[in-house]
Amino acid sequence: MSLRTSRLTGFYRLSLAERRCRLREAAGLPADGDAFAAVDPGALDLDQADGMIENVVGTYALPFAVAMNFCIDGSEVFVPMVVEEPSVVAAASNAARMARPRGFITEVSPPVMIGQIQIVHVADVEAGAAALRAEADALIAEARRMVPRLTDRGGGPRTLEIRELARSGPDGGVLVAHLHVDCRDAMGANLVNTLCEALAERIARIAGGRAGLRILSNLTDGRTVRVRCSIDDAELASADAAGPEVRAAIAAASRFAELDPYRACTHNKGIMNGVDAVLVATAQDWRAVEAGAHAFACRDGAYRPLAVWRERDGGLDGELLMPLAVGTVGGALHVHPGARLALELAGVTQADRLAAIAAAAGLATNLAALRALATEGIQRGHMALHARGLARAAGATGELVERVAAELAAIGDIKADRAREVYARLSATSVVKESP
Ligand code: MEV
Repeated sequence: MSLRTSRLTGFYRLSLAERRCRLREAAGLPADGDAFAAVDPGALDLDQADGMIENVVGTYALPFAVAMNFCIDGSEVFVPMVVEEPSVVAAASNAARMARPRGFITEVSPPVMIGQIQIVHVADVEAGAAALRAEADALIAEARRMVPRLTDRGGGPRTLEIRELARSGPDGGVLVAHLHVDCRDAMGANLVNTLCEALAERIARIAGGRAGLRILSNLTDGRTVRVRCSIDDAELASADAAGPEVRAAIAAASRFAELDPYRACTHNKGIMNGVDAVLVATAQDWRAVEAGAHAFACRDGAYRPLAVWRERDGGLDGELLMPLAVGTVGGALHVHPGARLALELAGVTQADRLAAIAAAAGLATNLAALRALATEGIQRGHMALHARGLARAAGATGELVERVAAELAAIGDIKADRAREVYARLSATSVVKESP
């Protein structure tokens, strides 16, 4: 079922139970049973956890949320996010609301991963490389026979690229063979590693050297997502700044990141806030994506921003390009109930769609961060969230959370003991509705 709208206004003001109800209806999740049992405490049971990694002594929970307002390639999407940092989900939702009139437009490349087979002590690097190039078609044919089901599904090994790394040195002549494999909906690490190990001896023999490492590369520059959005000035305006002013400040912030790796790193961190939250929610190998993103960011020798923003007449255009290797089959998805719910909420069955959604979330959190930094700074928003956290810690629930937080913000004293004081006074005099 396709989602009618991802814009559930006032969602953040509802109680948690009300949010579940509203989201279940909007996402068309089954009404019988608890649609959110998969993200209840303890949903990943100890036996499942014990089967996932070694030396398990428990499980570890993080908040599971959905970002609202996303329209990606013409479809409405609830974006699942798991993250410990306040503001990320709100930032993504706010930016997605600004981008809604045109939505996020994505281009996802074919899911081609690179497997590396290193060959060391090659007597004659040039001759070894030429011999491998001459045998490339036969090697690819052999590799394809090893993965018949993937090949039947339209994926499988595609090409063999030979790179010359050294003519001499401690490892002698060094070549590396890149096996390009279309992994379809798998992230592909196991698949690619298996193929590399199986082919390594033959490849080393043809090259006249010895097989070294056989492992995929996380610099998946053949598996990328490009996402664009275009925001009108009217959406960018803040309480204190007009749209054109905000637009100019965001474009200047982008240029700062383009000039300075110290800033580019933090700019990219703001992108990864959104990307990683989606990847964690859907049980992806976010370390692999992180490693690939930062290597890609310095592919021309200098570390650069993954997303840039440019002014246009009446608005702002943003574009993010990054490698994003994800899978919707295999990995932890087999066992992790929360991750399966995350995919269901996002309406995702295919890896390319998951990559598009994660990238859109990244461009959204980048936009929200730059807009805040370019206007009032990020601390005001952070402090408002911090105030809500303190109100809750003081014992407030339901509407009292907002009232205590608002008073803390108004007096400008956002501290735990002040929160307890305000809560004690408001709860003693209050007849507001508390959440159950
Ligand atoms: C904080 O998690 C992310 C930011 O630092 C990103 C940025 O500076 O662009 C706000």
